[in-house]
Amino acid sequence: MATVAVIGLGTMGLGIAQTYAAAGFDVLATDAHELARDNAVERLTGALAPRVEAGKLTPEARDALLSRFQVVPDAGAMGAADLAIEAVVERLEVKTAIFTALEAVMAPDAVLATNTSSLSVAAMAEGLRNPGRLLGLHFFNPAPVMKLVELVAHDGSAPEALARARNLTEAAGKTVIACPDRPGFIVNRCARPFYGEALALLEEGRSASEIDAAMLAAGYRLGPFGLIDLVGADINLAATESLARAMANNPRYHVFDALKAQVASGNLGRKTGKGFLFPDRPETPPADAAAIALRIEATLVNEAAWLLAEGGTTRDGIDTALKLGLNFPRGPFAMLEAHGPARIRAVLAGLEYAAPPALKRRYLPAPGL
Ligand SMILES: NC(=O)c1ccc[n+]([C@@H]2O[C@H](COP(=O)([O-])OP(=O)(O)OC[C@H]3O[C@@H](n4cnc5c(N)ncnc54)[C@H](O)[C@@H]3O)[C@@H](O)[C@H]2O)c1
Repeated sequence: MATVAVIGLGTMGLGIAQTYAAAGFDVLATDAHELARDNAVERLTGALAPRVEAGKLTPEARDALLSRFQVVPDAGAMGAADLAIEAVVERLEVKTAIFTALEAVMAPDAVLATNTSSLSVAAMAEGLRNPGRLLGLHFFNPAPVMKLVELVAHDGSAPEALARARNLTEAAGKTVIACPDRPGFIVNRCARPFYGEALALLEEGRSASEIDAAMLAAGYRLGPFGLIDLVGADINLAATESLARAMANNPRYHVFDALKAQVASGNLGRKTGKGFLFPDRPETPPADAAAIALRIEATLVNEAAWLLAEGGTTRDGIDTALKLGLNFPRGPFAMLEAHGPARIRAVLAGLEYAAPPALKRRYLPAPGL
């Protein structure tokens, strides 16, 4: 059985460590902070407790899992690992320093992976002795529960490294979807219109309740505002701003004032007790619920088609990623199939016509449409 190393034992790192240890891998783990190292076993035990109490994990299986989880002082003690995944703060220079330290002790064919959400994997590979062994393994929160992992290849990622990372991660029970080293990868990028178009509707005078009710009626488990309230408006704003910057302020990633105002109000969602909608639930869908859902889906289809045109992924990959990453009832290409390209183009043309000048380019159809 292979050994997996995890650097950074915060929210993501501990979940990633649990994922591989649960699948029978030996896990070596570390964190820069002594307290995080010292209480990691206790935190992991706590994370497993609900499963033990629910009878889904026997105490013996829990103990076996914990016995495969070993905390070490630093990256220098991770030379035995076949795959090392960093999940530390989102700062390029911190991640690069970790990979340099790992490269000095790990075997030449061992794989280095980053769990970054927003940094360029290629930029991280620069300066490594062997940049080909670095790739992205982007897990979703909570890592032990979420099935999806985006496998991010930069131009120089070696096929053997990609295959090894995929095999080990699939063996840990994940669905691994290849994606390009582009801002937001698949899910964080293709999700933008779900929120953005809902915020556009809100600014046009529709209510969060109506919009969410329309999406629930179309089969979504949560509407855009329910999802923002769940994750936090501040987190959503940061992700939107980061993508807008990375995509040269293309209006497809426009940061709507309504989102900024929500964050400024301090009503961030569940974590503050009040959000766009929370603690309320969406009411009855409005008479034009189908048109609202079609408008949001048309922009989801368009974003996915733009990403597809840039290469490095597939229609099925994008559909699977959005179903697993966002709990969507169908992926954008299934939406395209259902509505038909002519209808999607007509909706986009209508939106472009009605949009203010600065936002018209938001609705430019992707080449594949
Ligand atoms: N939170 C999410 O939903 C999510 C989802 C996917 C990816 N990510 C990415 O995962 C990474 C970690 O995010 P998080 O939410 O777990 O953060 P976190 O703040 O919960 O944990 C980060 C951990 O890294 C440790 N750390 C910092 N510098 C270190 C160093 N030099 N060496 C070793 N450990 C160090 C910190 O002590 C901390 O325990 C980030 O790159 C983030 O973008 C986060």
